[in-house]
Order: sequence, then C-alpha cells, then structure tokens
Amino acid sequence: MKFELTEIQSLIQITVKEFAQTAVAPIAAEIDRAHRFPEELIPQLAELNLLGVPYPEEVGGAGADNLSYVLVIEELARVCASTAVVVSAHTSLGTWPIYQFGTEAQKEKYLSKLASGEWLGAFALTEPGAGTDAAAGKTTAVLEGDEWVLNGSKIFITNGGYADVYVVTAMTDPSQGTKGISAFIVDKDAPGFSVGEKEHKLGIKASSTTPLYFSDCRIPKEAILGEPGKGFKIAMQTLDGGRIGIAAQALGIAQGALDAAVKYAKERVQFGKPIANQQAIQWMIADMATQIEAARFLVYRAAWNKDNGLPYSKEAAMAKLYAAEAASFVANKAIQIHGGYGYTENYSVERSLRDAKITEIYEGTSEVQRMVIAGSVLR
Ligand code: CAA
Repeated sequence: MKFELTEIQSLIQITVKEFAQTAVAPIAAEIDRAHRFPEELIPQLAELNLLGVPYPEEVGGAGADNLSYVLVIEELARVCASTAVVVSAHTSLGTWPIYQFGTEAQKEKYLSKLASGEWLGAFALTEPGAGTDAAAGKTTAVLEGDEWVLNGSKIFITNGGYADVYVVTAMTDPSQGTKGISAFIVDKDAPGFSVGEKEHKLGIKASSTTPLYFSDCRIPKEAILGEPGKGFKIAMQTLDGGRIGIAAQALGIAQGALDAAVKYAKERVQFGKPIANQQAIQWMIADMATQIEAARFLVYRAAWNKDNGLPYSKEAAMAKLYAAEAASFVANKAIQIHGGYGYTENYSVERSLRDAKITEIYEGTSEVQRMVIAGSVLR
C-alpha cells in the first residue's frame, strides 16, 4: 500500500494550490458577501484544464484520474467552497453522465465543450416533493413525434442559470416506478425551458442554486440519455461519483478552517503567550487534524476505487458522510479557537462553518449516506 501521490497528481495539486491562492482566495470573502457567481474564474479554470480533470485529453479533458480531481476540489474548497461546488457539480454531475452513458453523437456535441470548460454543466434530479425520495419526481416527458415534451419543475440546481447544458430526469412511464424514469440532455435555450430566481442560502453563497421550469419544453427525440427507463439508475450512479466530489469539498473546507485556526492560535497572545501553548487549544487542534486525516483517507480511497474499476458506491457514501461531519466539527472548533473574532466576518472561519453545513445535506443527506452504507453492509 502506497501513501504517496504520483508525479502527475503532485503536479496537479501544486498547480491548483497556486491557482487557489492567487486567483480564488483573494475574492472568496467578497463573492460570498455579494452572493456573486465567480464568472471570471470559469475561463481561468478552463485554461488550466481544471473543468474536465478526469476526462480523456481526446475529448478536451486533462486526462488525469479521479484522485487528481479530488485534489483539485479539495484545494479549491480550502479557500472557497463555492468555487469548489461549481467545479464539482459541473464535472461529476453535469459531464459524467454524458461521458458514461451518451451516444457517440451526444458525446460529439457536448463532451468536448464540457470537458474543456467551454460550456458549464448541471444536473437536475431534485424536485419540490422529491428530495431524499428522489424517485418521487413529478416532472414528465412524453414523446410527441420527433420530440420529447417535458413538463414540471426542479429545485436546488447547482449552476442553475450559468450552465449551458442540464442533465434532467423525468418520468416517462409512471406505471413503472423507478424504472419509468428517464434521463435527458436539455440545452439552456430549449423552447419552454426557463431558470428561476437564485436561492438565498446560509453558505456557498457565491454558487448559483435555482429552480428550473419546463413548460411544454421541447427537445429532440435523440436528447434522451441512455435507454428509456434507465434514468434513475443513471442518476444514482452519477451521484455515487458526485459524492466523492462533495466529500473532497468537505475535506477542503475542513483543512481551510484548520489552517486558519493554527495560524490564529500561534499569533493570538493571551495570558502572556500564544494560545497555541494552551493545552485546551492543542486538544482541539489534535482532534481537528485527526478527523481531517481520517476523512482524507476515506475520500482518496473512494476516488482510488473508482480509478481502479472497483465498486465505490459505499466508499463514496462513507467518504461524504465522514468528511461532511468532520467539516462541520472542524469549522465549529476553528471558530471556538478564534473566540469572538471568529464570530465576525473579519475572519474566514464563520464562512467555513456556513459552507460546511451544506455538505451534510446536498447530493444525499448524511442520513441517505447511512442508508446506502447500511444497505451495502447488510446486503
Ligand atoms: N447504482 C446503481 N443502481 C442503483 C443505485 C446505485 N448507486 N442505487 C439504487 N440503484 C438501483 C437499485 O438497484 C434499484 O434497482 P432495481 O429496481 O433494478 O433493483 C433501483 O435503483 C431503485 O433503488 P432503491 O429501491 O434503493 O431506490 P429508493 O427509491 O429506495 O431510493 C435512495 C434510494 C438511496 C434513498 C435514493 O433515492 C437517494 O440516493 N436519495 C437521495 C437523492 C440525492 O442524493 N439527491 C441529491 C440531488 S443532487 C444535489 O444535491 C444538487 C446539486 O446540484 C449539488
């Protein structure tokens, strides 16, 4: 068992770390406060090939592995969780199902634009009445001649309004339950498709989260992704990979909060010495660092399984569950170490805590991860 990165993985980590420090960190607090989507970062991320890390070079990606992708999300989230989720939702949720299940024609049309970062992707499964119960969606798709006609709505869609392409699930045969759900590729300018107002969220405020509306939305017959009735499985498999990305985001948030806490503890003097010299602070730092390291092993392991053709559904759920809960724990302790200053917007750790919370909720709540893990262990 080797606990070291390959040369390419290290190179990617150095590249993204430098980009995160020079281009993302300086604007992270401002875009959070202004709820401003970091549009200017998208071409820069594309230039560095960070919007298609795990896709082959032939289709415009970086040709790297999923572990490299995890390193990218981790380093971005270490300074800005919003930027990290823009990249994660685009890469894991918007692009992967087309890469995995698309026809040659669909790949020709979408993949190179998505993997190169020319276009941004999004994924739309959740509906007002179908969150954890993802199979309860009411959006329908009916074949009329050469077109699918979609009606219904989606909510909480990351990259909503900024994505060029949406992978959307809809019911095509309500009598078949989960086997009556199909997946579709919807272009942003499809007739009858519209994007609603952005949500005002507790955290990841610079990312866009919107509803989507389908009102007799017409898309070509060929826009179905995979076979009819396979949409639920496509969505579940997509989420298995997406959860590795969110786990990496949580890991990065936690590491960023620890970085800030360590720096502050060494600088802040009380009772005549830096608070880092106090055992009360040291114990918190030790617990934070240990949870982060445990999370890191789970996250890297899930990505490694995916890279090596091994099952990763349970591993991704474990990684996301543990990393998300670690992120909230660590961010909370980071504020405690900062004391009153940590409760203000003058320090980054209040943002870390607000950003950490969503990782326990989206792409499957911690309770859903426990369902997936228990289902696998007890099978
Ligand atoms: N891979 C392949 N197939 C899978 C699968 C997986 N990971 N998980 C389930 N399936 C298959 C099952 O094998 C089953 O197939 P058969 O009928 O052929 O046996 C079928 O799908 C139905 O499975 P279940 O009976 O287990 O389905 P369920 O309705 O009980 O749901 C659930 C299970 C785990 C709760 C699921 O609904 C779930 O994951 N819910 C959470 C949804 C979620 O994560 N939403 C987040 C949306 S994205 C987001 O957050 C926004 C964003 O942009 C960031």
